[in-house]
Amino acid sequence: TDRYCVLGHPIGHSKSPAIHAAFAEETGQTMEYVAIEAPLDDFTGTWRSLVVDGVRGANVTVPFKQQAWQLCDRLSERARRAGAVNTLVVDSDGGTWGDTTDGAGLVADLQRHGVVLEGARILVLGAGGAVRGVLEPLLAEQPQQLTVVNRTASRAIELATDFADLGAIEGAGLDAINGQYDLVINGTSASLSGDLPPLPDDLLDEKGIAYDMMYAAQPTVFVAWAQARGARGIDGLGMLVEQAAVSFELWRGVKPETEAVLSELRAQL
Ligand code: ATR
Repeated sequence: TDRYCVLGHPIGHSKSPAIHAAFAEETGQTMEYVAIEAPLDDFTGTWRSLVVDGVRGANVTVPFKQQAWQLCDRLSERARRAGAVNTLVVDSDGGTWGDTTDGAGLVADLQRHGVVLEGARILVLGAGGAVRGVLEPLLAEQPQQLTVVNRTASRAIELATDFADLGAIEGAGLDAINGQYDLVINGTSASLSGDLPPLPDDLLDEKGIAYDMMYAAQPTVFVAWAQARGARGIDGLGMLVEQAAVSFELWRGVKPETEAVLSELRAQL
């Protein structure tokens, strides 16, 4: 049986084993996928022993995504730019290839919701690792403009500079937000503590969509903010399932259906 795992610390709450078990059953793949808590001071050693043991691939989550990036022998172009990986694949020569599927998962979920990205005016809130990981796939959809705003303006400006060769991207501080957007994506970790960056009331036009990369059983503060203004709010549970589907396809060569898994997860929140 081909073996896979998710590596994180802590890892007990991870939904990945359930998601990949459902994908495996649905696609008829014989595989095993378990959660492993790697020690904080030895991510690399943990991965190397798993490879020696015959593990074929892994997902990587907090706080190891950057360390995983560093140990890769080869990287996808989007992972190289992201500076972090969430997916490891063991090559036939035993080397490790790394990719990040978060951005592809975000784009897939937006498309599933019927959101048109080509030609769209997109605003991204936040400029941390989570945002860096999704910019390449978003820009590949050729939005009219992608604006990244952050509490610390310099981080947003730096991100925009790093991705400027891929499309129309600009970075600024939160105070520079003006105008209306077709899509606003919250990539800050503020909602973890129930916070929301200050946002103008007319940020979204009547067809505007608010997408939160976080999810919760109840609407997140950002989703609730959008709904209170008559706009559509979508949380990031679908992104979680879609990024898993992209990883699964990288390992197994078959693309799983995501709808059933997503409804089941939603019901269990
Ligand atoms: P992650 O890997 O989740 O992106 P990170 O790199 O620490 O984590 O980035 C967190 C992001 O959330 C940053 O953009 C951060 O803004 P700063 O760069 O100014 O720190 C943003 N963030 C966190 N808490 C916030 C808050 N209360 N209000 C606004 N932005 C916040």
